[in-house]
Amino acid sequence: MIAKPFLKWVGGKTKLVPELVAMFPKKFNNYYEPFVGGGALFYEVVQKYKVGFSSINDINKKLITAYIQIKQDPKGLIKFLEEIDKEYKKLSLKEQRGYFNLTRIKYNEGNIDDTMTAAYLIFLNKTCFNGMYRENSKGEYNIPFGDQKNPNICDEENILAVSRCLKDTKITNLSFEDSVKKCNKGDLIYFDPPYYPVNATSNFTGYSKNSFGETEQRKLRDVFISLAKKDCFVMMSNSHTPFIEELYKDFYINYRYAARSINSKGDKRGKIKEVVVTSYPTSGTGNPILCKGR
Ligand SMILES: C[S@@+](CC[C@H](N)C(=O)[O-])C[C@H]1O[C@@H](n2cnc3c(N)ncnc32)[C@H](O)[C@@H]1O
Repeated sequence: MIAKPFLKWVGGKTKLVPELVAMFPKKFNNYYEPFVGGGALFYEVVQKYKVGFSSINDINKKLITAYIQIKQDPKGLIKFLEEIDKEYKKLSLKEQRGYFNLTRIKYNEGNIDDTMTAAYLIFLNKTCFNGMYRENSKGEYNIPFGDQKNPNICDEENILAVSRCLKDTKITNLSFEDSVKKCNKGDLIYFDPPYYPVNATSNFTGYSKNSFGETEQRKLRDVFISLAKKDCFVMMSNSHTPFIEELYKDFYINYRYAARSINSKGDKRGKIKEVVVTSYPTSGTGNPILCKGR
């Protein structure tokens, strides 16, 4: 069984994995993913590459609690999810909505242990509208009920496969800059931050109560530079905007088109241009990527 993300995450990179992998350096030592989210690229790396060491990080505490639970006690989590699944699927649609709302309240109140936090996060993600994660400024999960048909609440095989992938992985809940302090020459770091908004209405920053504005984007650029100076291989995805192009003008900017994924309205799902910035020249990335090396 090949492990895959156990959550649907806004900005998830599942569809982009082949293109990102094509931009990897030929050889690297350790792998770091400071904005792991659903972790699509992480699973590819730990299952298909020989890495010395891997490290994942995210500022969202409950997300990281879920990764730690899956690593340490996947069977305990599965047992709990099976109970939720059984209870939930016995209910009428109206009752399911009530169950969802009550679970969301308990999840947000936070007086629950780590297994419950992980199980509720997975349950809410599988049954909410559009399978999304979003927190308001108070750090409360605020996605409504989604009326999903037969959601796969307990994907036992995948949880066990994910747990195997995490066996030798360091998992941290820090801000990105603190998670890469020990990176050394030859390590690969993939940054997938919240994107800089393309326009005033496209600003999705609800991954956690912390916002990610211009100051954080500049701080990330400074971290990118300091890692490049240490001879690490650094890669970053972001929106295609003059601000980001200017910040990374001294590096290699690869352009690509991506399907918009967070807008629920069909007509707003068009293709948008994104960038993947690397600190090293890439080769053979194929269409539609154009590389502007400097
Ligand atoms: C674009 S998503 C990552 C998506 C991920 N690559 C995937 O495939 O699902 C950005 C992530 O950055 C996290 N984040 C936001 N601010 C952060 C910070 N200051 N330090 C670390 N992580 C942060 C969010 O919680 C979110 O999970």
